[in-house]
Amino acid sequence: MPGWTWTYEGYDPGQERLREALCTLGNGYFATRGAAPESAAGPAHYPGTYAAGCYNRLVSTAAGRRVENEDLVNLPNWLPLRFRVWPHDAIGTNGMNRTEPGWLTCDANELQAYRQILDLHRGVLTRQLRFAVGPGGHLDVEQTRLVHMADAHLAGLCTYFTARNWTGRLEVESAIDGEVTNAGVDRYRQLNGRHLTGWRTGVADADTMWMHCRTTASDISIAFAMRTHARATADNSRTDLTPTRAARLLNVHLASGAVACVEKTVALHTSRDAAISDPLNAAIDRIVDAPGFEQLLASHTSAWQHLWKRAELKVPGEAGRILRLHLFHVLQTLSPHTAELDVGVPARGLHGEAYRGHVFWDELFVLPYLNLHLPEVSRALLTYRHRRLPQAIRAAHAHGRNGAMYPWQSGSDGREESQTLHLNPRSGRWLPDNTHLQHHVGSAIAYNVWQYGQASDDSEFMHTKGAETLFQIARFWASTATWDASTGRYHIRRVVGPDEYHDAYPDATEPGIDDNAYTNVTAAWVMRRALDLARALPVPRRRELFERIALSGEELDGWDEISGRLYVPFHQGVISQFEGYADLAELDWAAYRDRYGSIQRLDRILESEGDTPNRYKASKQADVLMLGYLFSPSELCGLFRMLGYELDDEMWRRTVAYYLCRTCHGSTLSQLVHSWVLARARPTEAWQCWQDVLTGDVADLQGGTTTEGIHLGAMAGTLDLVQRGVTGLETREGALWLDPAPLPELSEFGFSIRFRGHWGVALRMRHGRLYISVPTSDATPIHVILPDRAITVVPGDTEGLDLSASS
Ligand code: BGC
Repeated sequence: MPGWTWTYEGYDPGQERLREALCTLGNGYFATRGAAPESAAGPAHYPGTYAAGCYNRLVSTAAGRRVENEDLVNLPNWLPLRFRVWPHDAIGTNGMNRTEPGWLTCDANELQAYRQILDLHRGVLTRQLRFAVGPGGHLDVEQTRLVHMADAHLAGLCTYFTARNWTGRLEVESAIDGEVTNAGVDRYRQLNGRHLTGWRTGVADADTMWMHCRTTASDISIAFAMRTHARATADNSRTDLTPTRAARLLNVHLASGAVACVEKTVALHTSRDAAISDPLNAAIDRIVDAPGFEQLLASHTSAWQHLWKRAELKVPGEAGRILRLHLFHVLQTLSPHTAELDVGVPARGLHGEAYRGHVFWDELFVLPYLNLHLPEVSRALLTYRHRRLPQAIRAAHAHGRNGAMYPWQSGSDGREESQTLHLNPRSGRWLPDNTHLQHHVGSAIAYNVWQYGQASDDSEFMHTKGAETLFQIARFWASTATWDASTGRYHIRRVVGPDEYHDAYPDATEPGIDDNAYTNVTAAWVMRRALDLARALPVPRRRELFERIALSGEELDGWDEISGRLYVPFHQGVISQFEGYADLAELDWAAYRDRYGSIQRLDRILESEGDTPNRYKASKQADVLMLGYLFSPSELCGLFRMLGYELDDEMWRRTVAYYLCRTCHGSTLSQLVHSWVLARARPTEAWQCWQDVLTGDVADLQGGTTTEGIHLGAMAGTLDLVQRGVTGLETREGALWLDPAPLPELSEFGFSIRFRGHWGVALRMRHGRLYISVPTSDATPIHVILPDRAITVVPGDTEGLDLSASS
């Protein structure tokens, strides 16, 4: 289907790890990189498989210090399927082979043609390979892979082998390999990556084998059952078992022109699964019941069709094709199955080992999209945070604060997982990591709770877990802010803002900066929304919750007071990123660009020169400008007014221009935020930024980072840029608010959303008009609020809005 496939022609070992990440298949429960099943792991190949939420802790020594890290575990590799051929003319008169042929891999000299096709519509990866066999002969291989979207525990690999101009024996070995480590990220190589132990293997029946092992510290049991079946006459089949590898060998006789098909189906269970007795028996039972590949493919494809209907975004052309790929990876990481799991949003998907599979604030860029398509998934992701509320409260107490101090990096139990040391690969030095001071992560969680409530009307969640999470975060900010009589303001000190390049003042002995504008403004917003929710709670719920978390009227008064008097620094007529920012030196951007070309990782460059970005007005990513990402222009002005400051359009425009030329986009989130913010002020530049985010992963613009996992926040953010950025869509007070900022290059798009009780409210942009329709099946009309008027769209009706009239 045009626009739904990604085809990679030819084999290029240098590109293989990038393709593996981009061709990852998953279903929210687990995912497997698009690695070549016939090749062993090596510089070009990294066949990782990851189950959502399956973490393990290991201790290592780095720079002479003991460091402990928790990682998303690379599970046993279920992919291996290698093959070789024994043509008759290579067999001697005594029936013995003259020479033992090598296994045919994409790195072998015999490879003549190679193509890889990722079909987003059906959720399958197909590989076509051709190998030379003897003089004038070929072996054609076509292999289709799926990770099942309906039955999340199943995956399959179906391989067709065709003999061309030779006759002989095809030998196929299908295996599960438990000898894997976490070794996908070069920077972590010096750290311990052996997460698995206690392997056992066995045979369940003629076609079925299994492997069982567990993680060393979290003690999660992992079981794979594997069925290998040849749709051809196979003889001399045998099994080959070691404790860490279970293999089945098949021999098939092939005449020229004949085709043999080998189906490999696996089932995965872990001890984290619900409704099982033990993972091994669950995996074996599942594989015994699993139908053949054709049937699996049919049910898998049908599950994908339903999913596309709920989430699809239609944008014509190449941009639309990339957006579809982004949506595909978002849905493979966070699918309807996620709604049943206790997991968060892994920043790099389930596609690689960068950031160790940790959960950051990136959900801020993901949930707003999901809220309007898969709200049950958003709810589960927020529940992941609520379950870890006690841990966040403990962390706040340990720091002498009240409320919940959520960790910058979160994993299995919600403790702070940020690394204490990180390696600068440029200098080879291990350096202290202060990013854990990004307490603004709490505001991101609160923002998502609030947005979810507005989009879904899920009062059951909002009046219980949602309210409790929001109140505890508001409480944290209130207990963190300190009053300073000399400024007549509250201040939040010793934090790190979204821009991680500023984690201390130049020459300071302690980390942290003061009054990061983004942190302070969002903290004020959190306290106000907490007050709104507290007032809106039904009395019995309010009484019960207030009593349980010992929340009093006086404490609410405190939130009211602090949220109106938090300090925001300014300089030269712009919002300052933090107090003291104005005193930093200007960086000679041209000189650094000339010298280094790409300066996205300016922190590493400066550190390798014995310098630090802390000395310069140079940001890694959008920081102040994040405010324009989270809040509409009118809401942002209102927020500043609430704080006692005047922010007009002119000052915001100056602020945008100021930081735009002082940011090096060392995070993929940066260009996204810039394109969102610029869409309203400078559409041409917005489009340029958007192009960079759009191609960030497909072209690996950050130079090797996509190979270690996709950037889920940026991917979801590009979808949301169409959904909410360009339309100015907000869900507030039970209505849909629209304030379009059309981008000429995005003049056509369409999507449907789920909004409160409505399924499938369609928005379509064409020829400068925005059409809104409500399906006939809906029971109630929706209220739409435009900058200059309000309308009601009744079920079965379409309203076309002329954007030039409403702007
Ligand atoms: C960014 C963070 C982000 C993290 C995970 C970092 O490079 O600076 O804002 O949360 O990556 O995506």
